[in-house]
Amino acid sequence: MFDLSLEMLRVVENAAIASARTMGMGDGKAADQAAVESMRRSMDTLPIDGTIVIGEGERDEAPMLYIGEKVGAPRNHAEPVTLDIAVDPLEGTNLCATGGAGAITVLAASEHGGLLHAPDCYMEKIVVGPAAKGAVDLDAPVKHNLKAIARRLQRGVDDLVVVVLERPRHEKLIADIREAGARIRLISDGDLSAGIAAAVAGTGVHAVMGSGGAPEGVLTAAALRCLNGEILGRLVVKDDAQRQRMREMGIADAGRIYTTPELAPGRNLVFAACGVTDGNLLQGVRFTGDGTHTQSVVMTSTPARVRFIDTTHLENKPDVKVRFR
Ligand code: FBP
Repeated sequence: MFDLSLEMLRVVENAAIASARTMGMGDGKAADQAAVESMRRSMDTLPIDGTIVIGEGERDEAPMLYIGEKVGAPRNHAEPVTLDIAVDPLEGTNLCATGGAGAITVLAASEHGGLLHAPDCYMEKIVVGPAAKGAVDLDAPVKHNLKAIARRLQRGVDDLVVVVLERPRHEKLIADIREAGARIRLISDGDLSAGIAAAVAGTGVHAVMGSGGAPEGVLTAAALRCLNGEILGRLVVKDDAQRQRMREMGIADAGRIYTTPELAPGRNLVFAACGVTDGNLLQGVRFTGDGTHTQSVVMTSTPARVRFIDTTHLENKPDVKVRFR
């Protein structure tokens, strides 16, 4: 029987294996291309009538997985499932290119209209887990938000770890977090996986703050809907051309703050991610003589399920051994 979440798992696993082969080669473009091509190929075997709503860019900028592209093989199946799909085939291309921690392959799917069509701009974000849901405000001073998170987590501000992308634009934010007394983990890339980690107890991440990609914000929201976490996001408009593009995409008020269900309103959300390089949440791809090992997370909003999945992709050899963990 067709199980969409398992099929999506297969798509992110294949893309992770393809891009992991390029790890450390110093070529982010090749790493991304390997993930994109693999994702596109895998999706085209599925009984879905899919539309990419968040992808590799506009039609004229990206050869594959561009916004509006149709994916799947609906004609080969009697009742194809109609889906909107958001992809980040390789989140952290530089991480993969350098063998740095935390590169993942990601996608989210929902019924039509279930994922905000976010433009390719920055988004100011604050991400917290279930305990701190409803306690933060994007417009509140950093100190205020950190106190609120600490109170909900029943600990001191100095026990919190906040993940921030290490960028010059975050100088003031970093200074404010330091002044408030919280600890900081600066990352070179990958605020999407950091956002997921913030909503999973035991990862040692309590919040993500700062601006990163808006598409990543929507993908984070899809994951957080399944994990009961919260992301608040506001698009950052760079210039008039971007404002115009937003209007064309139906975003009239660019200054509004989006909540998690506004970024990912779908009733039937599926989110899948697979580790490419070792990270907080997922181990990267391991190639061994007996097969390839991947670690993924697959979540659905209805029914509400979060699955961490270890897969051994067996080599087609008679004496291959499967290892228990
Ligand atoms: P890529 O996967 O495209 O390399 O993006 C990585 C990333 O670090 C995201 O996690 C983040 O949202 C965004 O880039 C930040 O953008 P910038 O590097 O322009 O600050």
